[in-house]
Amino acid sequence: MDDLKNKTILVTGASSGIGKECAILASKEGANIIITGRNVERLKDTFEKLDKSGNHKLFAADLCNQSDVDSLILNLPKLDGIVFSAGVSNVLPAKFIRKKHIDETMDLNFNSVVLLTAGILSKKLINNNASLVFISSAVTKYPYVGASLYIAGKMALDGYVKVLALELAAKKIRCNTISPNFVKTPLLGTEEQLIMEEAIEKHKNIHPLGMGMPEDVANAAVYLLSEKAKWLTGTNLFLGGGI
Ligand SMILES: NC(=O)c1ccc[n+]([C@@H]2O[C@H](COP(=O)([O-])OP(=O)(O)OC[C@H]3O[C@@H](n4cnc5c(N)ncnc54)[C@H](OP(=O)(O)O)[C@@H]3O)[C@@H](O)[C@H]2O)c1
Repeated sequence: MDDLKNKTILVTGASSGIGKECAILASKEGANIIITGRNVERLKDTFEKLDKSGNHKLFAADLCNQSDVDSLILNLPKLDGIVFSAGVSNVLPAKFIRKKHIDETMDLNFNSVVLLTAGILSKKLINNNASLVFISSAVTKYPYVGASLYIAGKMALDGYVKVLALELAAKKIRCNTISPNFVKTPLLGTEEQLIMEEAIEKHKNIHPLGMGMPEDVANAAVYLLSEKAKWLTGTNLFLGGGI
């Protein structure tokens, strides 16, 4: 249980779902964790669940607000890893898409990741041999009706990470994506209330191993953060639940 001993790791989207579980599991593997998200109450709940032996920090920030991002960066120590888990899902048929929907989805799922990474890199806050883990999605390979914006954002992220991996390889900083299929989190709950319920229901049934749990993704993230994955960069870990 010490794969991440003495490493300092930032987790975005740590107030819920996959990010929360990544933070908890990484803390149990010995890491010091900085958790971020907008909702302070939910962040506190995550904080309470982190392994008590570490030196953890909580920093509330809206990653779509540049001044919040700047303050977060100012408060960061040197990092050995980042899990980029903050994300939204906007499920809408193509004919109903308006600019505000594009902005809502891309601002968080793509722009905020690129800008946070740029800010952290320019302040030289990433140690050599660090590992950056980006949560993409299996829907890029197995699309469903209504998910065009969400998929476009995740595919943009996949492309970005491939180039980032090349740019940071000289410092042995590794950059990989994880693409989970459907995982039981509040994100999915929101989708279910939306109009594409039938398409989503159909998609859920494609998992031979059933739907995933947040810890299934967290286990993969901890592996990629650890030295055990030291020869992996620019790649994608596909968690398809059997597909
Ligand atoms: N669940 C799935 O089936 C599934 C499958 C594949 C990929 N994914 C991806 O996995 C990642 C995590 O999803 P999840 O299922 O864990 O969703 P979730 O439970 O809804 O968590 C989303 C997280 O993003 C944070 N967030 C939302 N807007 C934010 C903003 N403007 N600034 C900062 N943080 C913000 C939320 O925190 P606050 O509300 O506190 O800000 C929350 O912690 C996402 O990137 C998602 O696309 C999920």
